[in-house]
Amino acid sequence: MDITDISTRYSVRRLDKSDVADIYALCSKNTLYYRHCPPFVTERGIYDDMEALPPGKEVCDKLYLGFYDGADLVAVLDLILGFPNDKTAYIGFFMTETSVQNAGVGSGIIDELCLWLKRADFSSVRLGWVSGNAQAERFWLKNGFIETGEIYDKESFRVVAAMRGLISSETDFNMQNAQKR
Ligand SMILES: CC(C)(COP(=O)(O)OP(=O)(O)OC[C@H]1O[C@@H](n2cnc3c(N)ncnc32)[C@H](O)[C@@H]1OP(=O)(O)O)[C@@H](O)C(=O)NCCC(=O)NCCS
Repeated sequence: MDITDISTRYSVRRLDKSDVADIYALCSKNTLYYRHCPPFVTERGIYDDMEALPPGKEVCDKLYLGFYDGADLVAVLDLILGFPNDKTAYIGFFMTETSVQNAGVGSGIIDELCLWLKRADFSSVRLGWVSGNAQAERFWLKNGFIETGEIYDKESFRVVAAMRGLISSETDFNMQNAQKR
């Protein structure tokens, strides 16, 4: 899987410790997000997130990515491949630069990401948003995610689980059914 194919609009690359200051600059402007999902971002927290893995996953399953418009970082994505099952990818974090928000940037990236994952044979994408964060909730619902019904209680907030299936067109269904026959 070639991460540079994720976007036709932006350059995509893995972020590392040398990018932390730029990531902090992007994140720290998204104050609404951290009001719902405390604590407020710190450079230390970004380092930790870069290395954080869910149970059973390894470094090779994690993509901590930056989307660049020229030299400008416009979005950060934390993606785990094959979690919670082989055919599912998990978005742990997605954030866009405030100066480009509400212009379709986030939706465009997520749409292309879903196409890329579908080409790599994943069948669904999962994620969670903090209950009460209308910005995140409306964004994910607008982008075709549906609530799974699961709610996870964290110390100071609740997480609403959601998913988007990647097999959607009639052609895909027909192809799948033909393969089953
Ligand atoms: C959510 C986020 C990624 C959207 O990025 P974007 O580049 O603005 O994406 P788009 O322009 O494609 O989508 C904008 C949509 O977000 C939602 N949205 C944005 N601001 C909102 C607000 N204040 N209240 C409610 N919904 C809001 C709306 O659905 C809006 O589309 P609509 O007005 O047509 O309904 C961005 O606002 C962000 O980074 N927020 C902070 C981090 C976050 O919440 N990430 C998601 C949870 S991990």
